[in-house]
Amino acid sequence: MKSISILGSTGSIGTQTLEVARWRGYEVAALGAGKNLDLLLEQVQMFKPKLVACDKTVAAQLEPQLPTGTKLVPGPEGLEEVAQYPVNSVVAAISGSAGLKSTVAALKAGQHVALANKEAMVVAGPLVWEVARKHGGTITPVDSEHSALFQCLVGEQKSAVDKLVLTASGGPFRLKPHDLSQVTPEQALKHPNWAMGAKVTIDSSTLFNKGLEVLEAHYLFELPLRQIEVVIHPQSLIHSLVRFQDGNIKAQIGPHDMRLPIHYALEYPKRPQIPLEPLDLKGTWELHEPDTKRFPCLSLAYQAGEMGGVAPCALNAADEVAVEAFLAKRIAYTDIAKLLEQSLEQLENIPLSWDAIEETDKLTRRLLT
Ligand SMILES: NC(=O)c1ccc[n+]([C@@H]2O[C@H](COP(=O)([O-])OP(=O)(O)OC[C@H]3O[C@@H](n4cnc5c(N)ncnc54)[C@H](OP(=O)(O)O)[C@@H]3O)[C@@H](O)[C@H]2O)c1
Repeated sequence: MKSISILGSTGSIGTQTLEVARWRGYEVAALGAGKNLDLLLEQVQMFKPKLVACDKTVAAQLEPQLPTGTKLVPGPEGLEEVAQYPVNSVVAAISGSAGLKSTVAALKAGQHVALANKEAMVVAGPLVWEVARKHGGTITPVDSEHSALFQCLVGEQKSAVDKLVLTASGGPFRLKPHDLSQVTPEQALKHPNWAMGAKVTIDSSTLFNKGLEVLEAHYLFELPLRQIEVVIHPQSLIHSLVRFQDGNIKAQIGPHDMRLPIHYALEYPKRPQIPLEPLDLKGTWELHEPDTKRFPCLSLAYQAGEMGGVAPCALNAADEVAVEAFLAKRIAYTDIAKLLEQSLEQLENIPLSWDAIEETDKLTRRLLT
C-alpha cells in the first residue's frame, strides 16, 4: 500500500488529495494544516494519521480529541516534521510562501514531493532544486498546467523543446467589464471552471496566477522565460502544450478536475483507472492572446523573472498582501496590479539566497502594509 502525507490537508488540493487517497486506498500517514480545526479533526478521525500538525492557536483544542496513535506536532516546526515523515509521496499543498519551508524540509529528507505549492518554486526555484538534488528529493508537479507540460515532456529531450505553452482560462473578467476598478471580491471569487482556494481564485482572475505559473514553469523545467508562452483557452480542457523544434506540438487534454493531476503525480509513471466520467471531446475549443493591458499582472511576472534574484519573491509577497487587502475590501481590484508594480519599483534586487528570500519577503510586506 502506498503511503502519503499532505501539507495543507484542509484546503482545496488537500481535500481532493484525500479523495484520491480513498480511491486508491493509500495510507495517509501524516497531515498538516493551519487553523481549520473542525475539518482537520474530521480528517484525522477518518484517516488516523501517525502525525498531525496544525497552527499553534488551535493545537490545545485539537489535542484532547485525537485518536490513540496520532501524535500532535504544532506550529511551523510541526509542518516540517510532517514533511519529513517517511512516505512514498508528500503532497505540498499549503497556499502561499507559507508552504516553502515544509516543502524544502520534505526534499531535504529525500522524499518525493507532489508539488501544488507553486510559490515554493517561484520564490526559491534554483535553491529548491539544489536541496532536492543534494538530498535525493524528487518533484512531480500537481498544478494542472505543469502536470500537462510534464506529461508532454515524458520521453523527450529538453533540447528539442521550442516553447512551453501554458493555457489560461482567462478568468471571470476575460470579456467584461472593461473597467475592472469596481470588481468586488464576490465577483472575483467566481471562477468559471475551477473550484479553488480564495487566493488562487483571485490570482486566476487577475492573470497573476498565470504569471506565477510562468515563473514556476521557468524554474521547474529549467527553461528560459523566452521559451514560455501563455495562451487563453476559456474551456480549460487543453491544460498546456509543448511545441518542439521540429514543429510538432504535444498537448495534454482532460476534464478540469484537479483530482486528475493529483492522481497522476502520485501514481506516475502508472496510469491506473479512476472513477471519473471520460471527457466529451465535442464542442468549441478557443485559443486567444492574453490581454496584458487589462491584466498587467502577467507581464509583471515576466518582468520579475527577467530581473531574477529576489524579484519573484518580492512580487509574490506583494501579491499575498494585495489579495488579502482586496478580499478585506481595503483596496480596489485594480490596486492589486499597482501594488505589484510598486514592489518591483522599490526593490533593491540582490542575488538569491535563503536569507535574502526571508528578508525580501518581510521587507516587501512591511513596505506595502
Ligand atoms: N485549488 C486548486 O485547484 C489549485 C490548482 C493548482 C495549484 N494550486 C496551488 O496549490 C496550493 C494550495 O491551493 P488551495 O487552493 O488548495 O488553497 P486553500 O484551499 O486556500 O488551502 C490552503 C491550505 O494551506 C493551509 N495553510 C495556509 N497557510 C498556512 C500556514 N501558515 N500554516 C499551515 N497551513 C497553512 C490551509 O490551512 P487552514 O485552512 O487549516 O488554515 C489549507 O489547508 C497553492 O499554492 C495554489 O496555488 C491550487
